[in-house]
Amino acid sequence: VDTNSKRLTIAIQKSGRLSKESLKLLEACGVKFNLHEARLLAHSSNQPIDLLRVRDDDIPGLVMDGVVDLGLVGENVLEEVRLEREATSLKAEFKKLRALEFGQCRLSLAVPKEENYQGVQDLQGKRIATTYPYLLQDYLKKQNVAASTAILTGSVEVAPRAGLADAVCDLVSTGATLEANGLVEKEVIFTSQAQLIQRPQQLNSAKQAMIDQLLPRLDGVQMARE
Ligand code: PRP
Ligand code: ZN
Ligand code: MG
Repeated sequence: VDTNSKRLTIAIQKSGRLSKESLKLLEACGVKFNLHEARLLAHSSNQPIDLLRVRDDDIPGLVMDGVVDLGLVGENVLEEVRLEREATSLKAEFKKLRALEFGQCRLSLAVPKEENYQGVQDLQGKRIATTYPYLLQDYLKKQNVAASTAILTGSVEVAPRAGLADAVCDLVSTGATLEANGLVEKEVIFTSQAQLIQRPQQLNSAKQAMIDQLLPRLDGVQMARE
């Protein structure tokens, strides 16, 4: 990282549920971009700001390691990566700047609809498919339930039918994915929305000045949307 750089680097999700809203929000704050679909890095056309478009799972680590200055990311991914990095003794600090008013979803436990589910104790000794093993185990531990995990980075919802797991712990937004796969939501273990986060280290004055200018604009945009 070039700590003297006067260009502010912001990481956003390249493609997924937060991508469009993240870009829209930055543009509403007066930061313009000419995006080339294939490119990872985009320079703002009107401000000394660079946009890094990556997988959302990579955003918390990039911010915590100080590789980028700011990141827009879902709390679900943020908290999962934080727990994972704490467990593996990697740097897990960051500054929360603002909660953003998009990307609302929840991480829930769901079981096949033919299952006679009475409560979380029923998951004792079972296998649960998820992309969020740390958030899941954190929750199970608090509930005194011992269950194993099947870690899948996608298609979690098909795991029970495929015989890979007894239940799933996955993101739910509209509920359509669970419904389409014969699964019923039983426990909400984490609620989430997008967050704007900053790397923990102090920024040089040029970058700090840009953030000081960006935040009031962001507050104005969010206020106007309410
Ligand atoms: C999440 C989740 C489900 C879907 C749920 O996936 O894994 O597939 O959204 O949304 P719904 O309740 O509105 O149907 P996401 O879009 O984050 O993509 P991914 O599975 O590729 O990570
Ligand atoms: Zn992802
Ligand atoms: Mg999915």
